Order: sequence, then structure tokens, then C-alpha cells
Amino acid sequence: MIYGIGTDICDIRRIRASLERHGERFAQKILSDAELTTWQARSQRWPERGVRYLATRFSAKEAFSKAIGLGMRMPMTWRLCELGQLPSGQPTIVLHGELKAWFEAKGLSAHVSLTDETDYAASFCVVEVISKTGI
Ligand SMILES: CC(C)(COP(=O)(O)OP(=O)(O)OC[C@H]1O[C@@H](n2cnc3c(N)ncnc32)[C@H](O)[C@@H]1OP(=O)(O)O)[C@@H](O)C(=O)NCCC(=O)NCCS
Repeated sequence: MIYGIGTDICDIRRIRASLERHGERFAQKILSDAELTTWQARSQRWPERGVRYLATRFSAKEAFSKAIGLGMRMPMTWRLCELGQLPSGQPTIVLHGELKAWFEAKGLSAHVSLTDETDYAASFCVVEVISKTGI
């Protein structure tokens, strides 16, 4: 059963401007520790790759926050929601702390898809109930 869906479009130019204004502090607010390590490696090689990485994570987390119906309200926070990757390259949602506990107690599972073009990053997320004892 579908619990919720969420979508988001993010203007990559706004992410670039925030990074220019606030530097790494902005990335630290949005990214989990593991994501920050990836962001640093990509940014060092080619800053634009870092900007795009951050913009796609930003949009995916917003899409997820809508799919669970909370928006950016506790226990949903930027850093407790992480985007992982399967060996195939497919993105997955990896949750931490209070958000993970809340999500598991409801018996939920998430599916996410990301895309980006020159100036925009977009994401779509579907959350389903996988456990009959959930919700
Ligand atoms: C959901 C949220 C992360 C999106 O913020 P945003 O990037 O500024 O805006 P977006 O254009 O991407 O999305 C806005 C849409 O998200 C949807 N939305 C808002 N709250 C939502 C929620 N709790 N769950 C799912 N979707 C939500 C609405 O359709 C909204 O469109 P609308 O303003 O025309 O009604 C943010 O609005 C949020 O955290 N909201 C919940 C907490 C809050 O502050 N509520 C204030 C009202 S009491």
C-alpha cells in the first residue's frame, strides 16, 4: 500500500549561490557525514560536480520529506536522511537516528529517483507500507 508520494525541483543556481555565500557550512547542514565525504571528494576534483551532487541530495530529501507527510519537521531533518547508492548506481534512502526509528515503527519503505539538467535537479519519492503491523 502506498503511504505517500513526494516530488521536488531544485534550482541548481540557488545551491551554487548558497555555497558561494556560506561555503562548506551550507553543505554540512544538508549532508550526512558519509555524503559530506563524497561531496568533498567530488568538489575537489571538479567544483561543479560538488554543486550538482548537493543539489540532487537537496531535492531528494525534500521529496522524501513530502512523501512521509512531515515536510522538514522533526523527526525529519536533512542530516538524518541520507542518499545511498546500490552497486547498480540506483539511489536508496538510508535513515538514521530518530527518523529511522519513526520510519521503521510505521513499517515503511522508500523508493527514490533523481535527475538533473543544466539548471535544475528534480526528485520523486514513493513511500510504501511494507509491514502489516505498521502505521
Ligand atoms: C514541504 C516543505 C519541505 C517544502 O518546502 P519548499 O521547498 O519551500 O516548497 P516546495 O515548492 O518544494 O513545496 C511546497 C509544497 O509542498 C507540499 N507540502 C507542504 N507541506 C507538506 C507536508 N507536510 N507533506 C507533504 N507535502 C507538503 C505542498 O503541496 C506545498 O505546496 P503549496 O505551498 O502550494 O501548498 C516545507 O514546506 C515544509 O517543511 N513544510 C512542513 C512544515 C511547515 O513549515 N509547515 C508550515 C505550515 S503550518
